[in-house]
Amino acid sequence: MNDSLKLLERHSTPTRALVEPAPGDRQLRLILKTALGAPDHGRLHPYCFISIRGDARRKLSEVFAKATQQREPDVDPIYLEKQKEKPLHPPLIVVVVASLIESLKIPEIEQMLTAGAAAHNVLLAANALGFGSIWLTGANAYDDYVRGELGLAQNERIIGFIYLGTPTIDIPPHPIPEVSAHLTSWE
Ligand SMILES: Cc1cc2nc3c(=O)[nH]c(=O)nc-3n(C[C@H](O)[C@H](O)[C@H](O)COP(=O)(O)O)c2cc1C
Repeated sequence: MNDSLKLLERHSTPTRALVEPAPGDRQLRLILKTALGAPDHGRLHPYCFISIRGDARRKLSEVFAKATQQREPDVDPIYLEKQKEKPLHPPLIVVVVASLIESLKIPEIEQMLTAGAAAHNVLLAANALGFGSIWLTGANAYDDYVRGELGLAQNERIIGFIYLGTPTIDIPPHPIPEVSAHLTSWE
């Protein structure tokens, strides 16, 4: 058996190394189609996506800065500037949002897992198309001010900010741990 598998080559690209071109609208639709194909108990499609390009990244950067200052009024200005720069590096950011649906049968945790699987498909599809990507969260992902500015409703949670672009560096995938360390056989 051939032990090589394309999936094993997936890796993240640091934000600084993501440049233009980003996936165009058509490529983004294809990427999101794979997200919409994620396993989904009850076919609830409990997610939505927000794409942020161009000048809108500057707005996001301001929102992140204000959120950080609200959480940490004495924040180091150098750290704050660095935080502000982050969303300006990648040419495209996709915010993956879990839109939780009240259901007696499908608990929230399963809907969150579906949204997570959708986010992972975004990474895999972007890599398959030759783009670089990284899934980021941090305190801003859980900040009510950020959620409000992005127009999220009460039932919505940010799963991650996926930064996308063309990688300027070729990074080898991280070493993958031994499977035997994570596998037991129940008999
Ligand atoms: C839910 C989630 C949130 C993450 N948030 C961050 C983050 O805020 N900052 C960060 O440096 N890495 C974060 N990561 C990890 C990176 O996306 C990446 O997976 C990690 O650096 C390992 O690199 P690799 O994907 O090449 O194996 C997050 C991953 C997940 C699944």
